[in-house]
Amino acid sequence: MAAATLAPNHRLTQPWRFYVLGPEARHAYGLALGVRKARKIEDAQAGAAMRETVAEEHRALPCMIAVAVVDNENPEIREEDYAAAMMAVQNIALTAVELGLGTHIKTGGVMGDAAARAAAGVKDNERIVAIVNVGEPADVPPPKKRESAPAFTTWIP
Ligand SMILES: Cc1cc2nc3c(=O)[nH]c(=O)nc-3n(C[C@H](O)[C@H](O)[C@H](O)COP(=O)(O)O)c2cc1C
Repeated sequence: MAAATLAPNHRLTQPWRFYVLGPEARHAYGLALGVRKARKIEDAQAGAAMRETVAEEHRALPCMIAVAVVDNENPEIREEDYAAAMMAVQNIALTAVELGLGTHIKTGGVMGDAAARAAAGVKDNERIVAIVNVGEPADVPPPKKRESAPAFTTWIP
């Protein structure tokens, strides 16, 4: 988190908040996610199994950080603060790699779910912008194929 708070931040609003979830909080967040996934399953038993599985998977995570941003009523600052918080996320990911760890960044509608918010302990004026799971990588997957930078770069004289 020390690296995260060094992220560039216009106006130095320091909008980021980090919630490091323990096993019970992870289980509760996972349950909130599992409930959302189970809603898409017709079979009641399969739905219950989904809830249980996702909750237990989250309890078993080695480290789960909910990154939140303090809401600002000014839309310009709100956007800047979101960008700064995501740069903080990037700093966490890069620092983890430097330490021989790996991360999985996760987002999605669950971040605004009341049960998930309660599990993470965020305050009413904060919104979760990313979940960062950190751990020792079981393996390092090969990089996915990406276009090289020139494909996206236009030089304007
Ligand atoms: C802002 C953001 C949101 C992401 N959300 C999710 C997500 O909800 N679920 C997921 O499995 N991965 C998510 N990812 C991870 C990406 O899908 C991808 O695995 C990650 O950026 C690593 O890239 P790589 O697979 O090329 O190494 C997210 C990544 C970013 C940067």
